[in-house]
Amino acid sequence: MRAEGDAPVTVSRLIEHTDYRNQLLEDVRHGLTAYRKHLPSKYFYDARGSELFEEITRLPEYYLTEAETEILAEHSEGLMARIRPDELVELGSGSSTKTLMLIDAMHLSGGSRYVPIDISEDALRAAAKELCATYKWLEVEGLVGDYVADLDKVRRRGRRLIVFLGSTIGNYVPTLRYSLLRAVAAALDPGDLFLLGVDLVKDEASMIAAYDDSAGISAEFNLNILRVVNRELDGDIPLDAFEHVTRFDPQFSCMAQSLRATREVVANIRALDLAVTFHEGEEIHTEVSCKFTRGGVEEDFAAAGMRLDEWLTDSEKRFALALGSHA
Ligand code: AVJ
Repeated sequence: MRAEGDAPVTVSRLIEHTDYRNQLLEDVRHGLTAYRKHLPSKYFYDARGSELFEEITRLPEYYLTEAETEILAEHSEGLMARIRPDELVELGSGSSTKTLMLIDAMHLSGGSRYVPIDISEDALRAAAKELCATYKWLEVEGLVGDYVADLDKVRRRGRRLIVFLGSTIGNYVPTLRYSLLRAVAAALDPGDLFLLGVDLVKDEASMIAAYDDSAGISAEFNLNILRVVNRELDGDIPLDAFEHVTRFDPQFSCMAQSLRATREVVANIRALDLAVTFHEGEEIHTEVSCKFTRGGVEEDFAAAGMRLDEWLTDSEKRFALALGSHA
């Protein structure tokens, strides 16, 4: 329990359990009956998937976290001193570890409210609990929801900084990326800012290694989506009949992950009353992780009615933080 006088911590839902369930049913039915089978990458992140992703961030090949942390360590204080936000709204906050640097810096410049939004209630509760133990002055309003659909429902207090770190925006194909950036722009008032983490286009071997590590954690992470489908929808997809595939698609400048059937499989998804045939060699597309350039981000911002104000990179130019505001 917190002592009297401590700032409050709340976690509430923007999306109802039944809506989440219906969405999952619809997404899996749609994805597994399509001509090119696919599953939305947001379903990776049950407790095990979130843990596997945390493991990925500690792999030597997965340079993204290290590079972004380097930029945040160097620029958090300067950024916050210039922006002086009253509240920090974080999209897809997950475990919130990198955010600690931003929260520390926000405190130095006078802000005290943190609003993490995530689809995983477990991850949000764990992060909120840890944050409130560390920062007695911090007011945390955790929101469980979808940050494109629900961003307009977030209460505001004072000047707002929205952050979206980790290059998670790379998981959005271009049309959805546009919707996301439009929703962000709509949630910004004049004077508010948006800080976006993006992984940069680089040599193909480095990008591929980051999504196909030698320890096999990326493969485990990818396969976990089948575990989620089996558990949530009473399915019997045999995990051992699928292998992890990753490739770089130069046309869209994206890493693309999929699961390839190594033999013919017929699986039943009982909650959907659906039998699905996977032919040998057939793939289920599970994720894109798009890679960016400064010019591309500038164009994406402009299309959503935003302007690129600052562009910060790590020393090896692997990753960038883009600061944007209303055009
Ligand atoms: C958490 C979405 C940024 O796309 O790089 C890591 C997820 N997928 N390895 C990414 C991920 C495979 C990651 N993001």
